[in-house]
Amino acid sequence: MRRFHHLAAAAVVCFLTGLAGSAIAAEMNVDGMIKYRQNVMRSLGGHAGAVDRILRGHVPQHAEQLELHARALREVAETILTLFPKDTIPPEAVFAGATVETDALESILEKPDKFEMAGKDTQEAAQNFLKAVEGEDKKAIAEAFDKLGKSCKGCHDDFRKEKK
Ligand code: HEC
Repeated sequence: MRRFHHLAAAAVVCFLTGLAGSAIAAEMNVDGMIKYRQNVMRSLGGHAGAVDRILRGHVPQHAEQLELHARALREVAETILTLFPKDTIPPEAVFAGATVETDALESILEKPDKFEMAGKDTQEAAQNFLKAVEGEDKKAIAEAFDKLGKSCKGCHDDFRKEKK
């Protein structure tokens, strides 16, 4: 019986923390969201950089990790379009109280269709790259990786502040 009470209490606690969790999720921290986006973007850059080293043959002892990086790129690319809530894009970000720097451009809000297409391009390119890696044809892998890189650049050219 005592055991049952413990379980019941645990269930109540789980339920309540679950609720608190959703309340937290509902209120976005604008600075946190911008930082989160930049971290996720850097993770794409990290995996792409690792793939580049493997394809150049610099790290033969890690060649088997190619698929891991391709899979990560595909999975993360799927989330790109969730990373740009309106309140985190200038000028809205300022009104929403953002204090951290963002390289996201106003053009994201001005050309939402084009932005969405750029995101989908990368998603598709990442999917195709993973398929090529699974196919093990070196030329196809190199081509698919090149296309993936171009798709990232395509979005950055139009929607990210130019690096000084
Ligand atoms: C749909 C548009 C879009 C796509 C596609 C995209 N990016 Fe980005 N990326 C951005 C924007 C906008 C920023 C600036 C984010 C900010 O500063 O808030 C950015 C920032 C970055 C950064 C810098 C992060 C930092 O602040 O340190 C890296 C690295 C990056 N992207 C890598 C990639 C890679 C690699 C790909 C492709 C696999 C990719 N991105 C695809 C829009 C995109």
